[in-house]
Amino acid sequence: CLSRTRTRTVPGEGSPSAEVLFVGEAPGRDEDRRGRPFVGAAGRLLDRMLAAIDLRREDVFIANILKCRPPGNRDPLPDEIEACRPHLLRQIAALRPRFLVTLGRVPSHVLLGTTLGITRIRGIPREFPYPGGSAVLIPMFHPSYLLRNPAAKREAWADLKLLRRLLAGGE
Ligand code: URA
Repeated sequence: CLSRTRTRTVPGEGSPSAEVLFVGEAPGRDEDRRGRPFVGAAGRLLDRMLAAIDLRREDVFIANILKCRPPGNRDPLPDEIEACRPHLLRQIAALRPRFLVTLGRVPSHVLLGTTLGITRIRGIPREFPYPGGSAVLIPMFHPSYLLRNPAAKREAWADLKLLRRLLAGGE
């Protein structure tokens, strides 16, 4: 558990009636300082991604696999993921979202139980059952990845449009 090295926990935030739950990896430095998810550079891009499909942060819910920052932003360790998994599953069961968007490799692997690369699984919707219902899970690129690889924004845009279409009730 990372509670000794973190500054603040970052449980996640958003609308209690959100239809979409975005799941990132773990808080970074900015999030650790402020106790809020996606408030640094990646968060500013996430806000723009949301705006591109007419969503605002207040309309959705944003959480992470880990609720505490790993020192130096290293990848989450398996025991840290397992320690935090029940928190996320409780958030999902309480929110009962129609859509789950996993941002990047780590949350996609954790929730789908696959080890296929993110470029292989992004944009492919899957059913994600939870107690009392199920969501459509769509893996997408992480905004930090898009900052490093702007050419991937084309696929990210396609994935966002898919989410917009499904949210509107289309096929
Ligand atoms: N990256 C994440 O995965 N989560 C955050 O909250 C911020 C950056």
